[in-house]
Amino acid sequence: MPDEIYPIPTGFAERARVNAEDYRRRYRASIENPDAFWAEEAKFLQWIKPFSRISDTSFDARDLRIRWFEDGTLNASVNCVDRHLPGKADCAAILWEGDAPGESRVVTWGELADKVNRLANVLKSLGVAKGDVVTIYLPVIPEVMVAMMACVRIGAVHSVVFSGFSAEALASRIADAQAKVLVTANEGHRGGRAHPLKHNADEALRDQPSVRHVVVIKRSSADAPFTPGRDLWYDEAVASAAPWCEPVEIGAEDPLFILYTSGSTGKPKGLVHTTGGYLTHAGTSWRNIFDWREGDVFWSTADVGWVTAHTYKIYGPLLNGATSVMFEGVPTWPDSSRWWSLIEKHKVSIFYTAPTALRSLMREGDGPVRKHDLSSLRVLGSVGEPINPDAWRWFHRTIGGGRCPIVDTYWQTETGAVLLTPLPGAVPNKPGMAGRPYFGVRPEVVDARGAALEGPASGNLCFRGSWPGQARTILNDRERFIQTYFAPYPGRFFTGDGAARDEDGYYRISGRVDDVVNVSGHRLGTVELESAIASHPAVTEAAVVGYPHRVKGQGVFAYVTLKEGVAETEPLRREIMGWVRARIGPIASPDIIQWSPALPKNRAGKILRRILAKVAANDFEDFGDVSTLAEPAVVEDIVKRRQQALAIKETA
Ligand code: WTA
Repeated sequence: MPDEIYPIPTGFAERARVNAEDYRRRYRASIENPDAFWAEEAKFLQWIKPFSRISDTSFDARDLRIRWFEDGTLNASVNCVDRHLPGKADCAAILWEGDAPGESRVVTWGELADKVNRLANVLKSLGVAKGDVVTIYLPVIPEVMVAMMACVRIGAVHSVVFSGFSAEALASRIADAQAKVLVTANEGHRGGRAHPLKHNADEALRDQPSVRHVVVIKRSSADAPFTPGRDLWYDEAVASAAPWCEPVEIGAEDPLFILYTSGSTGKPKGLVHTTGGYLTHAGTSWRNIFDWREGDVFWSTADVGWVTAHTYKIYGPLLNGATSVMFEGVPTWPDSSRWWSLIEKHKVSIFYTAPTALRSLMREGDGPVRKHDLSSLRVLGSVGEPINPDAWRWFHRTIGGGRCPIVDTYWQTETGAVLLTPLPGAVPNKPGMAGRPYFGVRPEVVDARGAALEGPASGNLCFRGSWPGQARTILNDRERFIQTYFAPYPGRFFTGDGAARDEDGYYRISGRVDDVVNVSGHRLGTVELESAIASHPAVTEAAVVGYPHRVKGQGVFAYVTLKEGVAETEPLRREIMGWVRARIGPIASPDIIQWSPALPKNRAGKILRRILAKVAANDFEDFGDVSTLAEPAVVEDIVKRRQQALAIKETA
């Protein structure tokens, strides 16, 4: 079957930052001489002391080195904020929309700068110094940007924790980073409901002596617990702080931020990003990928707790002095035309979102979209999980009116910035495909033995040669960093994803090949989920796998073995779901729990997840090599229970 190809819209390439010819030429040059390419890109930043060394990198697991622009110095907040003053002091940096319709704010560059300086002084007065970690646990409000920028102004390292995470998840991230200060809010609002962030924060801090102070933003007039001496109100503190804070000179390889993500072993890992390389890659890739130009209004719907927001909602737009929309709520409240109404209101021209949201909105039909004028849109983007062709076409036709290129951007918390994407003025779209490599990026599809495959092929996705935006290490665990990403395929960075490359050099991501499930674009480690379930007093053991889910992409399927004598009841099932919510957060709550008196294991006691994943996907045939099974009857029982559950669902 011939490929479905959507050519670059007429007239687009002529005005684009990068057209097909530029892409070919610059891509080739960037691969032939990455140092020359990236040194040129780095001129995008304002350096205090220019670098003389460009890169010092090796992906050899015995001698891992990832260093870019090492002897240069700069300050991130100067690049993100000061640089746009005074020219843009009265222009909008952030067009903020609260959860409730009608609640909105415009934050100008001037106001942003003022708040950043003042909060930086507050942090200093609380004893925060260069290299200290500040944890940020906030809803999607402009103060997130203020807090991040205030940190980096004084060389402090921010660690933003998703506000949907539970107190326990927050506590473990604070402990790992030994944060000195926590910035939070009394509450956050989503979908018409208030979430008690300060209450969670207090619970998280019960046993975290490293945190000496808590800065609390009043998101609303609701009361919140307050510990005198430790806590301070943001409004009062910034009002009495001095309006200028001298930016600290930071080395290019000094840490900028930590961001936690799930991996294939139990504990979330804190990936460390550094300053010069990350900012270079974030700032230049953002404008190339979204074809940004002065006057555009950009909107990324990502929550600030994820890397998507770090690089392409916060750093990318700020570095470029762009105006962006920030929305606190959800797409379906008060009704499912909310996003579309905001696109109309703010004349959004570049819109970046996730397939899972598109799939759920698509189910509402075209009606909610048709009520609004979306003709301001020019470029659309997708991220976080593979976008299925149906959702892609709906995005293209119904949202983009058939005239906007879609940048399906593939990247990870670890990669810091986009590695694969169809640049909008250069690479025609194929639905469901993440296009071609970004500048300076060398993808490889490798087979199980690690041999790089040529031409059309499928296998595991790796990258060869460093790029400036990549994470430098895992906080407190360099060995895990090396073992996870560089040991599996010598000389390469291994993504943990499977991919196929077609005859035109386009990549299609098939999904994770490790113990990570991608639920609505959120990464969850199966081991982390299993430990949360197994910590319930009624549970002996649990095994978690992902299964195909119509809206979420993947859902969480948990096989749970109860303790001897514990009855398999509906209330217990719900209790375990609630247990996981409380321990990790609502995004991790299992979609399906199947009681399993025993789990299929090999003779060495290793759970055979391959079989569990097949059963969860309702595929009951051909389990492959089952000769290693310790007790074959266990599989029969698991299949029988799954089939019974399906039969009940069908008759219900
Ligand atoms: C998946 C999000 C297909 C992938 C930026 C990756 C994607 C993980 C895409 C990283 C895409 C991200 N197509 N899959 N365009 N983008 N992924 O760290 O499995 O939250 O490994 O970073 O999301 O998730 P993370």
